[in-house]
Amino acid sequence: MNPELVKRYSAPVPRYTSYPTAPHFSDDIDARTYRGWLAELRPGTRLSLYTHIPFCDELCWYCGCCTKAVRRYEPIAEYLTSLRTEIAKIASDVPAEHEVLHIHWGGGSPNVLAPDDVVELADLHRRLFRIREGAEFAVEIDPRHLDDARTSAFARAGVTRISIGVQDFDETVQAAINRRQSFEVTERAVLGFRSHGIEAINIDLVYGLPHQTRASLQDTVEKVLQLRPTRIAAFGYAHLPERLKHQRLIATATLPDSIERFAQANRLSRLLMRAGYERIGLDHFALPDDPLAKGQLARNFQGYTTDTADALIGFGASAIGRLPQGYVQNHPAAAEYARRIAEEGLATSRGIALTDNDRMRGFVIERLMCDMTFPARELRQRFGDRSEELLREAHALLDADQDRLIESDGDAFRVTDRGRPFVRTIAACFDSYLDTKAARHAPGI
Ligand SMILES: C[S@@+](CC[C@H](N)C(=O)[O-])C[C@H]1O[C@@H](n2cnc3c(N)ncnc32)[C@H](O)[C@@H]1O
Ligand code: SF4
Repeated sequence: MNPELVKRYSAPVPRYTSYPTAPHFSDDIDARTYRGWLAELRPGTRLSLYTHIPFCDELCWYCGCCTKAVRRYEPIAEYLTSLRTEIAKIASDVPAEHEVLHIHWGGGSPNVLAPDDVVELADLHRRLFRIREGAEFAVEIDPRHLDDARTSAFARAGVTRISIGVQDFDETVQAAINRRQSFEVTERAVLGFRSHGIEAINIDLVYGLPHQTRASLQDTVEKVLQLRPTRIAAFGYAHLPERLKHQRLIATATLPDSIERFAQANRLSRLLMRAGYERIGLDHFALPDDPLAKGQLARNFQGYTTDTADALIGFGASAIGRLPQGYVQNHPAAAEYARRIAEEGLATSRGIALTDNDRMRGFVIERLMCDMTFPARELRQRFGDRSEELLREAHALLDADQDRLIESDGDAFRVTDRGRPFVRTIAACFDSYLDTKAARHAPGI
């Protein structure tokens, strides 16, 4: 490892789960725009549905997601009422011929829902949309608050894939992030889903947490490997205390520095690859027979996915949708979301209409993040003369690269193994919005 390299390329950059990234959305895009975009969806558009559940039983201090800890069920029940209204409204605006390829429930923790509500909400999706036979239905789970009734409800609802968060099994790390979760609790959740026939299990790991070390991470990985999940994600902790108040409860001095973070990420990938996992993109790993290791890779708000649908419809507070015309985001505050849904059935508060330049740069950034290269020929076919400017930028980068992070690949370039940990920083060279607006991001590794 070259510490100079790590220091040079660990400046904050986006994770590129979309392009343009969410800080560049504006309030020019509202429910009226969204209604128009939905009406323009072409026959045969393949859909993906995302439903956001912004509640948890308790709040982890490291959490960067849009969620809130609740003690009573009332706010959840009220939220479900708004959600049903929104789903019904959008289903009535979207012609029934569109087929749904993927469903994802994220959060927050969808397992805060009562078992009957889990089944009823899934039925609503099925009644109002045409779901393709065998479509993936993935749900994010907090294993600390999961009982048999909920596990079996998710199975009855038709869930096919589960994502479970595991941060570090070390107690000092767990105390510093306010998330106490033993290996036994995690194992019980995994075995519970398997006993109900849900075999596709993702485990989300995080490195760069307060007090975390390579040794604590290694111990955590060795335990997780006993469970043999089909996919493992390894996210670098994004510490943004200026934006997220609860992260101020984590003392910055207890966080590993960029060199240690890099070493942790390296240790993680070495251990996982030695155990037979294939490395996918920047931070995902999958067993060789998992669809992520076999098929066309795409990037969306959950990270890497096999979901290649043409449009993503988001339901719930803060949910983001991606249509051929651009991105839309619902209001993030549950109360304002509910008010807007009650008044007009939609809660779009921000978004961005894509220009041809956005589409071209988005294409290159997504391919780099997924494949570590981009296809120059396809770029030319899709974007014509406009692509020459971008290819010139790619050549200028190759000429300027003293660190062997990229190498020539015909007209385009390929990220080298040495450059792979810095692929976000390389992708950022094609981002024409960067620095045009104050947007805070997590470190580049
Ligand atoms: C939003 S949670 C949803 C699942 C469930 N609530 C749980 O915590 O297990 C999904 C994952 O996002 C990741 N995550 C949340 N906050 C993060 C942060 N600040 N930096 C990096 N990853 C984070 C963690 O891996 C977490 O398990
Ligand atoms: S990490 Fe998961 S359980 Fe913890 S607060 Fe965030 S969404 Fe909730």
